[in-house]
Amino acid sequence: MFDSGVGGLSVLREVRLALPQAPVIYAADNAGLPYGTKTEVEIASRVAGLLGRMTERLKPRLVCIACNTASTIALGMVRDVLEVPIVGTVPAIKPAAAITRSGVIGLLGTGATIRQGYVDRLEAEFAADKHLLRFAAPELVEAAEARLRGLPVDPAVFARAADGLRAQAQGGAIDTVVLACTHFPLIVDDLAQAFGPDVEFVDGAAGIARRIAFLTQGQSWQRTGPDLALFTRDGAELAELAPALTSAGLTEIGVF
Ligand code: DGL
Repeated sequence: MFDSGVGGLSVLREVRLALPQAPVIYAADNAGLPYGTKTEVEIASRVAGLLGRMTERLKPRLVCIACNTASTIALGMVRDVLEVPIVGTVPAIKPAAAITRSGVIGLLGTGATIRQGYVDRLEAEFAADKHLLRFAAPELVEAAEARLRGLPVDPAVFARAADGLRAQAQGGAIDTVVLACTHFPLIVDDLAQAFGPDVEFVDGAAGIARRIAFLTQGQSWQRTGPDLALFTRDGAELAELAPALTSAGLTEIGVF
């Protein structure tokens, strides 16, 4: 499982439920974090290069890009060059369109994600008769990272994300919010407080877990050691993250 940071843990949680026996290597490109403020070229070359080297060395049977930013930009390219099956993470616009009653959907993602043609295509295919409002909330990536490191988070960041959607035309009618960044389900309780009680949050994690279970059905799993969290840069944050990683079942930490 691959993300720029700890966001993919929200996907791992669902994968654990679907496939409790599956050994997992969780790879976080903390040297490249955050992705959401980078250019398409930077993200695509970084993700393709890293996943190429990682799959060669670690030989996973499947790769999950547990990051909307990396997936919406680089999924096609990475699939073209790697032999291993790849499951991506894309904004859950389809389920959101199915549950909204007001017809107004909010989408929170990184700046890089919300400007992607991939998102335009999902909107056109699944929400053409709805109103989709997008807002880039890079501060929420920082907030989720800090929260999992046990550091304090300024509650104003959640209010700013809610206001960023609410302040747009028809924003007051939003009843469904797509969490289009894997970091955001990790702070969904704070977001729920900021948005108020009448908003439902949707993300793609459960669907990704189902897809991984489908693609690996009939295969047997054998855990030969502890599940590993790998980082692209060593630093103080690795020790700070250890409790969160341990509770996600990642009991060994290493540097790639
Ligand atoms: N977790 C990533 C996503 O799903 C992005 C966070 C970042 O900006 O690096 O989009």
